[in-house]
Amino acid sequence: MFKVFLVTGGAGFIGSALVRHLIADTDVTVVNVDKLTYAANLTSLADAGDSERHIFCHADVADRQKMRDIFAQYRPEAVLHLAAESHVDRSIDGPRDFIDTNIVGTYTLLEVAREYWNRLDAETHNRFRFHHVSTDEVYGSLGQTGFFTETTPYSPNSPYSASKAASDHLVRAWRETYGLPTVISNCSNNYGPYQHPEKLIPLVIHKVLEGEPIPVYGKGDNVRDWLYVEDHVQALLMIATRGKPGEVYNVGGENEKQNIEVVRAICSILDELKPGKGSHADLITFVEDRPGHDRRYAIDASKISAELGWQPAESFASGLRKTVSWYLDNQDWCRTAMKNYQGQRLGLKAAP
Ligand code: NAD
Ligand code: TYD
Repeated sequence: MFKVFLVTGGAGFIGSALVRHLIADTDVTVVNVDKLTYAANLTSLADAGDSERHIFCHADVADRQKMRDIFAQYRPEAVLHLAAESHVDRSIDGPRDFIDTNIVGTYTLLEVAREYWNRLDAETHNRFRFHHVSTDEVYGSLGQTGFFTETTPYSPNSPYSASKAASDHLVRAWRETYGLPTVISNCSNNYGPYQHPEKLIPLVIHKVLEGEPIPVYGKGDNVRDWLYVEDHVQALLMIATRGKPGEVYNVGGENEKQNIEVVRAICSILDELKPGKGSHADLITFVEDRPGHDRRYAIDASKISAELGWQPAESFASGLRKTVSWYLDNQDWCRTAMKNYQGQRLGLKAAP
């Protein structure tokens, strides 16, 4: 195991789950680089934030000098790059930040990592890893059948997925051209505690608790493949520590669900835990579809399973129940997260 990890985006949803795990369950030191955008929340770090092994650096990954200073000062043995603009609807309304962080930020980090790696002593140089955390959305949209594999051609449809695809290509090129020991993972939709309420699952919980209409895009028949965030964290650590340089690993939960099924499942858990007058499902409202809405995502995770022995521990039913209960018990966190987003519809600016 490495002793010092540099994690970018560690105040976000997946990054904070990774940092909490690294601090609670290992003895590594975590250098957490985060710009603290609207999507970040330092309270998501919980007790891990106060650990002596957690070093927080408020910085933009696109700031080359700051990244150089951070690498020079803390001497990481591995980088887990999660920092990104992550919400498709926001990328439709304003792609600029997605270009700046996801593409230029990744480029900057690659360059700084390369410069640093070239000067490492032989042993650390050989062990160093740059793990780029990406999404299955780079592959585009599936029809009724089939799965994304590591060799599926890229076909991104949203500004978000196009910016992540661009960053994946940069990472690949830095491996092929400069030999930087990179690994890439492409994961399906995550859910779990501390996810920003702009995303489907926490937004539905919020709408139910407020008694407001639940916005379901189009007919609600788009399919996503859901993975509990802690299962993703386990996969990330296996890939960062045991993945082969130059390889790509797809990560997914084999939990394909239509959006409407997910929304109904949340309503039924809340009918039980927070009963109202009728069923909360009465709040479901079909609204104008997302422009360029990808129809179906589904991951073939057989490579990571066969090569690294990864298997998700959580079923969708158990993970969703845990998630809903967590949001009910953590309304203070939600109120902080919602200071800069009040549940309004995003992503319609492209519509004619
Ligand atoms: P998130 O939006 O919750 O968090 C992103 C974090 O990155 C925030 O803390 C933010 O402040 C930080 N950040 C943004 N721009 C930055 C910059 N320029 N410099 C430094 N920090 C910056 O995102 P998430 O859902 O935790 O996703 C993390 C990563 O995983 C992303 O790269 C995303 O593309 C990828 N991913 C997410 C999912 C998912 O379902 N959420 C699925 C697959 C892959
Ligand atoms: P989202 O959580 O934004 O993730 P992604 O777009 O990266 O898959 O959305 C998940 C699915 O839910 C997607 O098909 C869009 C849909 N959706 C709604 O129907 N209503 C909503 O209010 C939101 C935010 C998403």
